[in-house]
Amino acid sequence: MAKTKSVFYCTECGNETLKWLGKCPACGAWNTIVEQPAVDAKRKATVPGSSGLSIRRPKPMAEVEAVDELRFNTGMNELDRVLGGGAVKGSLVLVGGAPGIGKSTLMLQICDNLCRFSQVLYVSGEESERQIKLRAQRLGICDKGLSLFSETNLDDIVAAVQESKPDVLIVDSIQTIYNGDSSSSPGSVTQVKECTMALMHLAKGMGVTVFVVGHINKEGSLAGPKVLEHMVDCVLHFEGEEHNSYRILRAAKNRFGATNEIGVFEMGDQGLVEVPNPSEAMLYGRPENMPGSCVTCVMEGVRPVLAEVQALLSPSAYGNARRSSNGFDYNRAMMMAAVLEKRGGLVLSSCDFYVNVIGGLTLDEPAADLALVVALASSFRDKPVPFDLAAIGEVGLTGELRSVNAINQRLSEVRRLGFSKCLIPARNSGKIVTPAGLDLIWVGNIREAIAVLV
Ligand code: TYD
Ligand code: MG
Repeated sequence: MAKTKSVFYCTECGNETLKWLGKCPACGAWNTIVEQPAVDAKRKATVPGSSGLSIRRPKPMAEVEAVDELRFNTGMNELDRVLGGGAVKGSLVLVGGAPGIGKSTLMLQICDNLCRFSQVLYVSGEESERQIKLRAQRLGICDKGLSLFSETNLDDIVAAVQESKPDVLIVDSIQTIYNGDSSSSPGSVTQVKECTMALMHLAKGMGVTVFVVGHINKEGSLAGPKVLEHMVDCVLHFEGEEHNSYRILRAAKNRFGATNEIGVFEMGDQGLVEVPNPSEAMLYGRPENMPGSCVTCVMEGVRPVLAEVQALLSPSAYGNARRSSNGFDYNRAMMMAAVLEKRGGLVLSSCDFYVNVIGGLTLDEPAADLALVVALASSFRDKPVPFDLAAIGEVGLTGELRSVNAINQRLSEVRRLGFSKCLIPARNSGKIVTPAGLDLIWVGNIREAIAVLV
């Protein structure tokens, strides 16, 4: 009897190994290697969707037509912005996010606009046509050019696309779709790769714009195949906190635009609502006269967004102080605490401390350092930071304040939201244009910054 060959894949990073291993040599994750029957090289050549396309040959570059990509608006400005100014015709966009975050809702809502001027096919492997229709009705989605298809078999989906030739195809979700020719189970690395490849052929061959929904695993990467991220044109992450209604859409990869844009939405009774003014939303409900809160301004793409950093210090009940950080890089928060203790002279080592960023934002920019230092000092001294004060600056290990980029945009945003004072590094490079009504407080190190509080 012929022995069936197997290959082993890491479900985390998609790395292929010859035998089973406890630890993936590529990404270092434990217990993530799974066995899959090897894919026959001959069969691989007949990925559904690739048949019927003309044979392609290399072309001299001079003969390649280079017209700008054709873009169209999805009807949601926040999504268009993240995509780099609308969706590109014939591209494949992967939308990843945790279960229940609102991926299906977002997809259904973009149909509302898309189906007014194009044919949209919405394929769901998770919900029946009736369920989708009920949801669409509740969200008030226009149904003129929208077709629904509850199907998980890749061949049937490809056939439906070839027959109905939609302009936009939405597949929800890639983990539920399977290729009947492959012997591995739906959701496995091989299946997800093959199905994405087939959809990619449809996108490129027929000029269909494809949106594919993917679930993410607990570590936050797209379930299993990181390999998917290399294949597709755009990878969007839809993020948010369970108990918070704000949702943030980020581009992790974009072949047609910048990756540093974010789109902000709020999940309500009527589905997702765009938040055109995120700073206002992030500061909503900010406590007045309470110690341990400081506002900063971070750049999300080319957009300045205000964020509130909170810190709570309390005497440690046990020998080991507890520390936790939510929305602020843990190691960076520890570093700020150490700098504050050593260079600012506040003895934090006997305190538990908790750091939190309001609104589900993740601050990964050094410009937010000073706000954390100020919030920690404010909580330590039990003295509120003035309500109209914001703080911008990177803190170095000697307690010095370092220059931040895009300072003028940040300052105008701070002023626009009604702040009248702002701490900024004394030696910020570049010419600073002070917005009218904003007092700049130049500080050289963290001692000078916390002195402003007293
Ligand atoms: P869904 O789009 O189904 O999430 P995903 O496809 O990412 O798994 O959204 C599910 C959640 O969104 C659900 O828990 C309820 C909430 N929701 C609202 O709050 N309001 C709404 O109008 C809709 C449609 C969903
Ligand atoms: Mg869903």
